Amino acid sequence: MSGSNHISRRDFIKVTTGAIGGFIAGVLGIPSIAYMISPALREDKAGKPMPIGKLEDIPIGTPHPFSFTITKVNGWERTAASYGGFILRKSEDPNDILVLSSRCTHLSCRVNWNETAGAFLCPCHDAKFSKEGEVLDGPPPEPLGHFTHEVDAEGYITIIPVEQKAG
Ligand code: FES
Repeated sequence: MSGSNHISRRDFIKVTTGAIGGFIAGVLGIPSIAYMISPALREDKAGKPMPIGKLEDIPIGTPHPFSFTITKVNGWERTAASYGGFILRKSEDPNDILVLSSRCTHLSCRVNWNETAGAFLCPCHDAKFSKEGEVLDGPPPEPLGHFTHEVDAEGYITIIPVEQKAG
């Protein structure tokens, strides 16, 4: 009957097919688009404060190792690099600390604290650095780098994970 509110079978199939197609496109399409653009929206942690320990856990007078990983996201490329260093508490004063990098300033090998030698030793070309990072022996052109740090009211130490040159 023309002029009635009934829809034809053909129109019903068109509307139903369109609705199902739209639903499938939404279910599959939205997550796909989110997946494709999300790497570009992720933040890079380099340069942001990073916790490395609590003051009460660090012995006074002996370099204490710490390490952290920075993941850099460049579009869809993600690279993780690990870094390390040593916290030297020089006295009871919470502000009297030095946060040294473990990267040798010669060719970037990792130095290790050697209690017997009382120095940081580099395994690559036998360099020796003092407890405070000064060059004592070997080819390094400059002292160990350090990290800018802060100690909060509860004694948590955070660093800005960007190595600074000594001096
Ligand atoms: S890399 Fe450390 S002495 Fe050469």
